[in-house]
Formats: sequence, structure tokens, C-alpha cells
Amino acid sequence: MLISQNCSDVLKPNIEIKQFPDGESYVRIVSDYSNEDTVLHRLYPNQSKSIFELLQIIDTLSEYQNEIVLIIPYLAYARQERRVIDGEAISARAIIRALASFNVKKIITFDCHFMKESKNKTLYDVEIINIHLSQALIQHAKEKLHSITSKKEKILVIAPDKGASYMNVDTYFIKERGEYVNTKSDKTYRVIKSLDYSLVEEKIKKENISNAILIDDIIASGTTIIEAAKLCKELGIKNLAVCCTHGQFLNNADKKILEYAKFIVTSNTILNPYSEVNFWDYLPNAKI
Ligand code: R5P
Repeated sequence: MLISQNCSDVLKPNIEIKQFPDGESYVRIVSDYSNEDTVLHRLYPNQSKSIFELLQIIDTLSEYQNEIVLIIPYLAYARQERRVIDGEAISARAIIRALASFNVKKIITFDCHFMKESKNKTLYDVEIINIHLSQALIQHAKEKLHSITSKKEKILVIAPDKGASYMNVDTYFIKERGEYVNTKSDKTYRVIKSLDYSLVEEKIKKENISNAILIDDIIASGTTIIEAAKLCKELGIKNLAVCCTHGQFLNNADKKILEYAKFIVTSNTILNPYSEVNFWDYLPNAKI
């Protein structure tokens, strides 16, 4: 297998990546790649640059291989899988089609934004295997919570919105979105920042819950999870853990989350100080 330098925390790399003085990337596969068909490479941080590094890797590999397999822990640009405003680029389609054109036949990834609960899909002749990490994250967070609470106390697992309700949760908040509205210049999508907490409140009251785990696929700005964390506190949760597969924590969002939560747990699909669940342990036929 070919391991990118940006995955050196997982396995010993055999792809060297350096920067030219003008910022362009130099890529070199430093082992014999004539019989290799699988590449492990992260697309975060510096998504656009990392994608171009990947294109250089698979362009090189395609000298020998017609069927390339990629392990991409966090599939960047997966957020936009449909067009909302006329003329918008569909970034998820763009990246899959670009990879397909370099002989990629399979992508193994984790909690992919445009696949949510589905576990695999074929797009533009590329098979996408989407591995869910929610069970592993919840298990890990439960063990940590049990070290600060009694083992007998129930822990409620909550999603901050319906979109994340597939993540083995007991209940979820309902995010109320606004409608498409026409502004003077353009069409804009307005999101009304309010959460309906009736389902969560009912569970907490009925079962007298004071411990909870909030889980989402990704934390970016933290807006979604912070809103949900605040509500959990208002609903009487004393010990709160926050989990996600991909933790970006933009603009110190983690510090704000920790005002409400005892701790944060993420996987290492994106490296951050809370990366405690190793995606590598959950690959099919692990250690390919
Ligand atoms: C939404 O579909 C996702 O599951 C996340 O809830 C969202 O992208 C998180 O973004 P932020 O942290 O910026 O609220």
C-alpha cells in the first residue's frame, strides 16, 4: 500500500510530499509502486492542495494500474452534493469525477457527508464504501463518562439534528430551517437557527437522565453542536460529552464546546487534540 506523508501518524509513509518555494507541491513515491493499487491520503487540512497532491499520486500510479483504491479518511468537498442556486458547482460530483478520470475504482471513506446513513454507493463508476464510526465513538465516550459517573446511570445519546440521527442515537433535536428566499440580487438559503427540543426533553424527563453524549458527523464552526450543547445543559444534563467523526473546530470552536461539555472525542480522520478513535481499526479487512 502507498501511504502519504500526511498519514505518518497511522503508518510509515512511502510517499514524500514537499513544497516548492512558490507553494506548489512536489510528490514522489519512494518505494516500488509497480504492484501497488491502494493509496492512503488525507484531504484535510489544505483541502484543495491535498487534492492536487492526490491527483499527482494517482496520476503516477495509473502508469501501472487501471483499478486504483483510495482510502480517504475525510472526503473533502463532499458537502455540496446538489445545486441550490442556479449555476452552482456540485463539488461532490466534481471530486468523484476527477478521481474517476485517474483510474480510481473504489474509495473507502468515513461518515461521508453526501452518503449519511448509506454504507455504499456507486457514482460515476466509482464504488464508495462509507464506514460509520458512531458506534466506536459512542463506546469510547461512554467509557470516559463512566469514569466520572456511576456505571449504573443511563447515558442518553443525542444527535444535534435529524441529519445525524443515523449515528446510533436514542433521540435528536429538530433543526428548523427557513425557506429559500429571494433577496434583491440573488436567491439565498436562510437557515433559521432554532432547535425543537421536544423529543429530547421527553426522554430526559421520562428517564430522569443527567448524562448525555452529543454526536455529529462533523464539527466545523461548531454552531450546530454548541446550540445543542447549550440546550442539553438547560434541560438538566450534568455530564455531557461531545463526539464527532471529523473535528475541524474552526475559530476555536472546541474551547466554546468545552464550556458545556466535560470532554470531546473525535476520530483521527482529521487530526486534532481530541482524536482518540483510530479510523484505521475500522477498515474492512483492516490492515489491507
Ligand atoms: C450538517 O449536515 C452536518 O451534519 C453538521 O451538523 C454541520 O455541518 C456542522 O457544521 P457546524 O459545526 O459549522 O455547525
